[in-house]
Amino acid sequence: MKGKLSFLVCLLFMFPVALADLRIGFYKDTCPGAESIISGVVQTTFASDKSITPALVRMYFHDCFNAACDASILIDSTSAKPSEKAAGPNLTVRGFELIDKVKKAVEEACPSTVSCSDIIAVATRDAVALAGGLNYTVLTGRLDGLQSDPSKVNLPGTSISVLAALQMFKANQLDSIDAVALLGGHTVGVAHCSFFKDRLSSPDRSMDPSLFQQLRTNCSSSNNVDPTANLDQKTPFDFDNQYYKQIQMRKGILQIDQRIAFDRLTIGIVNDFALNPDKFKQSFANAMIKLGNLVANVGEIRQNCRVFNQPKPRPQQQNNQVDKQERPSLIF
Ligand code: HEM
Ligand SMILES: *[C@@H]1O[C@H](CO)[C@@H](O)[C@H](O)[C@H]1NC(C)=O
Ligand SMILES: *[C@@H]1O[C@H](CO)[C@@H](O)[C@H](O)[C@H]1NC(C)=O
Ligand SMILES: *[C@@H]1O[C@H](CO)[C@@H](O)[C@H](O)[C@H]1NC(C)=O
Repeated sequence: MKGKLSFLVCLLFMFPVALADLRIGFYKDTCPGAESIISGVVQTTFASDKSITPALVRMYFHDCFNAACDASILIDSTSAKPSEKAAGPNLTVRGFELIDKVKKAVEEACPSTVSCSDIIAVATRDAVALAGGLNYTVLTGRLDGLQSDPSKVNLPGTSISVLAALQMFKANQLDSIDAVALLGGHTVGVAHCSFFKDRLSSPDRSMDPSLFQQLRTNCSSSNNVDPTANLDQKTPFDFDNQYYKQIQMRKGILQIDQRIAFDRLTIGIVNDFALNPDKFKQSFANAMIKLGNLVANVGEIRQNCRVFNQPKPRPQQQNNQVDKQERPSLIF
């Protein structure tokens, strides 16, 4: 027992890691301005580019799902080592510049204090609220992970069955109401034709015929290698329940969007959200909060969200910036 304990203590001295401690207002004392700095940058960006909302919502989902909200999605690949960014479904994730901008501002105010994973979580919440969703409470205190491995990426594909999709969500502590609500994230943003062109080879009863014709035309446009279509054909920038109404009318873009509308496992939830916009918004907020509870147990406060901190030799650890990375609440 004693041996094990001193081993752990040794480990903690060797690496500047800390344990996660998720709560409301984690930075209240250490960086009181953090959340308003994040909100400010999101607001400014949103004013000129409403597509920042889908960009952040998708980034948050990819970061948290099947692992932890640990900002591993932000790590840049190097020639020596590919990161999660280099993995198939993540190739079109956007919004990294906004995170860089926020991180720079937050580092100026409070160096090495606010994690990149918290920045993603708070920024996403603000972007959802600006687009018309609820301004739900985001707990903070996440740590940035120490790994980013493309081979560990395990996100659902577009042609997954509803049952298999629900099982994947369940493995992330998300029930079918959460899953259907989160898919409502597709009420904003776009998909590239490459993700749904398999539905366009021949007319298919699951897609509205006029949508089919339009997508066929747009996706074969010669002036763009991989055009996009709005996931919500009616109100692509509003965080509303229109997505559910569209899929009821067979105007879903991705195979899985269309499948949840008529599968017996999800049809009831879809119909409920299509009728009750406030219920959708509340369920979406609840599910986003649950997704945010998947956190890394150990990690660091990255100084640059795109690269892991460099290990620092212990003897030179005089400056207090490094010491700040060790949190006092160790649990053993
Ligand atoms: C079975 C589950 C899911 C599948 C198969 C799926 C698949 C996809 C695909 C293929 C795209 C298009 C990407 C592109 O062309 O760049 C996309 C976009 C998007 N997804 Fe999902 N998704 C799923 C669940 C979710 C969830 C749970 C959320 C968030 C809560 C989400 C949020 C988004 C957003 C906001 C976009 C638009 C991104 C943009 O405009 O840049 N998705 N999704
Ligand atoms: C959401 O609420 C927080 C306070 O909890 C506030 O700082 C932020 O500006 C709000 N965001 C939006 C977009 O209203
Ligand atoms: C995308 O990144 C997330 C986390 O950053 C990871 O869990 C997921 O497996 C990645 N997807 C792919 C296909 O690389
Ligand atoms: C097809 O492209 C036109 C012109 O850009 C656009 O207005 C329309 O919404 C697109 N249709 C679909 C289904 O994406």
